[in-house]
Amino acid sequence: MKSVIPSILATVSLIIAGNSLAADMPAAGKVKCGSCHAIAKKVIGPSYMDISAKYKNDKDAASKIAASVTNGGAFGWKMGKMPPKGLGADDAEIKSMSEYIAGLAK
Ligand code: HEC
Repeated sequence: MKSVIPSILATVSLIIAGNSLAADMPAAGKVKCGSCHAIAKKVIGPSYMDISAKYKNDKDAASKIAASVTNGGAFGWKMGKMPPKGLGADDAEIKSMSEYIAGLAK
């Protein structure tokens, strides 16, 4: 029983961290991804909320999303193909966007 309380606290702080990530999308997201993606609706690509739901409960969500963004291509959404790195995002921008997307569904 002793270990339960710290793990509850850890979960709560993860939820808080997730929410603060959700509040501000990295600036690169609007410029380099925003012509094809929006937070809550499909545009040319799937919404970030839908992508986040796909990776919900996956502890490697952020790194898997980052790999998809870096490589581009088709991921089963049947919406066509995504260009590798979107519109020229660098690795740091891809990392911050991937963490942001992964945090939406938590
Ligand atoms: C020219 C349009 C376009 C741009 C720009 C673009 N995407 Fe995409 N993206 C797509 C399409 C289309 C898909 C869906 C492909 C499919 O049908 O599987 C997609 C899918 C995705 C996925 C789903 C990956 C998965 O594993 O399911 C993620 C994450 C994503 N995009 C993130 C981004 C990010 C972050 C950026 C900016 C750095 C970006 N996209 C820029 C068109 C775009």
